[in-house]
Amino acid sequence: MKKRLGLILMMILTLVLSACGSNTQTEEGSQGSSGGSGEKGKLDIFSWWTGAGEEDGLKALLALFKEKYPDIPIENAAVAGGAGTNAKAVLASRMQGNDPPATFQVHGGSELNDSWVAADKMEPLNDLYEQEGWNDKFPKELIELVSKDGNMYSVPVNIHRANVLWYNKKVFEENGIAVPTTFDEFFEAADTLKEKGITPLALGDKEPWAATHLFETVLLGELGAEDYKKLWTGELAFDDPKVKKAAETFKKMLTYVNEDHSSRNWQDAAQLVGSGEAAMNVMGDWAKGYFTNDLKLAVNKDFGYAPTPGTEGTFGVITDTFGLPKGLNNSEDVKKFLSVLGSVEGQDAFNPLKGSIPARIDADVSKYDQYGKDTMEDFKSAALVPSLAHGSAAPEGFVTKVNQAVNIFVTQGDVDQLVRTLQSAGTELK
Ligand code: GAL
Repeated sequence: MKKRLGLILMMILTLVLSACGSNTQTEEGSQGSSGGSGEKGKLDIFSWWTGAGEEDGLKALLALFKEKYPDIPIENAAVAGGAGTNAKAVLASRMQGNDPPATFQVHGGSELNDSWVAADKMEPLNDLYEQEGWNDKFPKELIELVSKDGNMYSVPVNIHRANVLWYNKKVFEENGIAVPTTFDEFFEAADTLKEKGITPLALGDKEPWAATHLFETVLLGELGAEDYKKLWTGELAFDDPKVKKAAETFKKMLTYVNEDHSSRNWQDAAQLVGSGEAAMNVMGDWAKGYFTNDLKLAVNKDFGYAPTPGTEGTFGVITDTFGLPKGLNNSEDVKKFLSVLGSVEGQDAFNPLKGSIPARIDADVSKYDQYGKDTMEDFKSAALVPSLAHGSAAPEGFVTKVNQAVNIFVTQGDVDQLVRTLQSAGTELK
């Protein structure tokens, strides 16, 4: 009797396991339960927006979608790690296994076009753009970043600025520091602060991209917009004296950072500025979301902002976008999500919390704080340049090599070696 019961239990277990297995098994054109066309059509929205300063905007957007489409179940499938440190690998393996999320965060520019579009993994969205009347609602520079061969492949939810210097207002005031606009002024301020026992520049490069982010702003400051852009098209060689100069300036800046930089992430670094232990931090304006939402600090009262040294009049563009992977069987629902994300309402729910400005040109300016308003104005008049660290300027393979080289540079400080590595990685550029 006991034996028979055991056998029946075994059979039930086998049945249950095989049923579960079939949910996650994938075939061309259809996804498992965790995929975009998963069980009951659940939309899994894939990003790296978890935790402090990152998730508030996303949650507001998801809530708006739920309000508009209560019958479409949605899942926040975010994977933690700044700048997609972990999410990008998870995404790559899902895409490879034909198990794409319903939609995923991807930077406009090379990251979208040279990876997923080139691999024929994305559906064109021209019809959706037409239907939603988006063709003249996004700046043409953004449309270019999400287009390849005349087709649009994703919808921008925001515009982040890369070249922002954040500073603690009280620390600056108490120490008589003026906001530095050049590298010379930066080093002068940094010396004064150092003498007073304050960390001049906060860095958190536990995830190496944060150091690359700082380096790209130094490149921009030393080279100017035109030459900076030429680096990514191969028109300016990495052994150009200006690149070497930038590496030297970067090296000098690193002598002013907190000792524990390699054990902090970007939030931990921004936190040093918030508390006044450090005076400045170079980070994209997701840091503003962190300062205001998480640290409860006020714009222009507790913290201030300025273009990083030498970059006045230029704007390092980062745009987070979402597209429609091929092979989903609920693509109509995904399109509904994309229409909410691309609507004025969607952008104005997301961006005031995220720290970014809306990608649309007709958003409601009154919903944004002074930082947002200033940044929207700057975007209109500045020279726009693509971010390297955030995937717009160059292919993933190149960015990975730069991250490794910069990471080594931060500890070893060998300028020639950095230049050599950049040069040889340059073969990844088209
Ligand atoms: C960027 C992304 C931003 C922000 C940041 C930190 O790559 O575009 O939206 O999330 O990483 O994680």
